[in-house]
Amino acid sequence: STSAFIFDLDGVIVDTAKYHYLAWKKLANELGFEFTKEQNELFKGVSRKRCLEILLDIGGVTATQEEFNKYMIEKNEDYLEYIEKMNESEILPDVPKVLDFLKENNIPIALGSASKNARPILEKVKLLSYFDAIVDGNDVTKAKPDPEVFLIAANKLETSPEKCIVFEDAVAGIQAANNANMVSIGIGDAQILSEADHNFNDFTEMSLDFLKSLMSPEA
Ligand code: G6P
Ligand code: MG
Repeated sequence: STSAFIFDLDGVIVDTAKYHYLAWKKLANELGFEFTKEQNELFKGVSRKRCLEILLDIGGVTATQEEFNKYMIEKNEDYLEYIEKMNESEILPDVPKVLDFLKENNIPIALGSASKNARPILEKVKLLSYFDAIVDGNDVTKAKPDPEVFLIAANKLETSPEKCIVFEDAVAGIQAANNANMVSIGIGDAQILSEADHNFNDFTEMSLDFLKSLMSPEA
């Protein structure tokens, strides 16, 4: 089988962390406490449900099941208002360069994200057509660092895990890729993503020769 590339979404293709942050902060403030950018770091790669559990913990707030569900909906509705206004300008630097290069080399591309909003976001920034498979928060039962999301992606691309290369900005995402026996590439702070096989601050630092070196010979 041929090599394949799997991209995380938030923090790798688009910088949506800032919108997640604003929506969680609004909820926290309504519930009477502060939520900082530093605390938001803990939310990267983490499911919406788990984020809310952590948020309520931070605020020392207890919620009934009904309230919990209401907060989940409220946060997502706020987040969707930001997503609605997104366009191509919010694609992170050199992402199209990498996607185009992979396409030119006939390399299969998948999305592997915890987000349930992945498709609308890819549509907004006009990148949906690049992806041969999309695996998102609607398809998985186990969260990163469990390898499930990436294993489903490999399966959909009809390739084996060892032939897959994963781009991730979250520690849990790098661990998920490692747990899947895939090549893990950290996009972001190399100190935080030290478990990755390779590290880059962003795609502008990644050469096409490096990408080529990751592709298997028959590709
Ligand atoms: C990504 C983000 C997380 C977010 C999760 C769920 O993994 O990094 O911060 O909580 O997706 O996103 P959703 O759009 O389903 O609320
Ligand atoms: Mg991410």
